[in-house]
Amino acid sequence: VRAATPEDKFSFGLWTVSWAGKDQFGDATRAALDPWEYLGPVAEAGASGITFHDDDVVPFGASDDERTAILERFRAAADEVGLTIEMVTTNTFTHPVFKDGGFTANDRSVRRFGLRKVLRNVDLAAELGASTFVMWGGREGTEYDGSKDLNTALERYAEGVDTVAQYIKDSGYDMVIALEPKPNEPRGDIFLPTIGHALGFIAKLSNGDIVGLNPETGHEQMAGLNYTHGLAQALWAGKLFHIDLNGQRSIKYDQDLVFGHGDLLSAFFTVDLIENGFPNGGPRYTGWKHFDYKPSRTEGFDGVWASARANIETYLLLAEKARAYREDPRVQAAFEAAGIFESAQPTLAEGESVADLLADRSAFEDFDADAAGARETNYVILNQLALEHLIG
Ligand code: GCO
Ligand code: MN
Ligand code: MN
Ligand code: MN
Repeated sequence: VRAATPEDKFSFGLWTVSWAGKDQFGDATRAALDPWEYLGPVAEAGASGITFHDDDVVPFGASDDERTAILERFRAAADEVGLTIEMVTTNTFTHPVFKDGGFTANDRSVRRFGLRKVLRNVDLAAELGASTFVMWGGREGTEYDGSKDLNTALERYAEGVDTVAQYIKDSGYDMVIALEPKPNEPRGDIFLPTIGHALGFIAKLSNGDIVGLNPETGHEQMAGLNYTHGLAQALWAGKLFHIDLNGQRSIKYDQDLVFGHGDLLSAFFTVDLIENGFPNGGPRYTGWKHFDYKPSRTEGFDGVWASARANIETYLLLAEKARAYREDPRVQAAFEAAGIFESAQPTLAEGESVADLLADRSAFEDFDADAAGARETNYVILNQLALEHLIG
């Protein structure tokens, strides 16, 4: 596979490679290095971007002077190895103060603190030149349906996001907010559990024009949903601002596997959509390909760097295969036979009214539904061609 270039726009969350392996049941299996020590190897793995939560770099509660010194050192290290800080996000989930959420906690003082912590990091993100501010509300949710007024919780969530968006506008920052849906973990049920829920939420915001999505592969799959379909709907809505690529094997805890190490055929179609777009044209994703995975805690540092490379190599391999798939004349013929190009034709003719449709006997009275029901779709042949390109 070819080497990654800056045009590929691959990036990693600092919290991915720096995860030391501490989980619910076990202690860390790897050492925690200083944040800047990860940057050289991340660049070497083929990334040109890095992202972080405030607390990944600056310890919670650090003094202003400490914070400034640490951030300067981090920024210099990123510059030195040519990593762009493309996205910044805020941790409103680790500290006990956020045990009931940052924006939706019943305790108003916690919500005010959460908002201040987020606003502070919006300033930081702007200063570092980040174009996207991700909000993953991991603690925004419940274990018990009766523990929150679900209506006012959503009101408070919208108030929080709208306040941050207004602040971005008032400050003149060239930045958008990307909400990251997840169905559960760490909360029993998280608010904005899927792409669809988040799109519905954004439509209700006053500043929704600068609020979009950061969908994560595994999070949709944890809900039993199709990630590529979710990306498609976010694109269609003009809301695909950022993506978190990783792997997940079925409905279970958040595995954060390497991209492609979960549902490989689904990963193929995700890459096909990103690289080649929809068969009939339409909106495209041109943003960062951001990996949000966890190097398994069975691995040492060799495994950490092998897994970082694996994300990029898998993406590039799938991109090559997806290109060959689209260029294959048999695939184009199968698209034609499957009626995919016909789907671009509007159902009503140009200028045709509902009255015209009602008067069209060929559309109903004289229509041979049995013959249309017997039409061969050729979808299986098409899918087998995809499989052949994938594993052939
Ligand atoms: C998850 C999330 C987190 C990140 C989030 C914010 O796996 O639950 O992805 O790892 O904090 O992506 O950027
Ligand atoms: Mn995840
Ligand atoms: Mn994520
Ligand atoms: Mn994650």
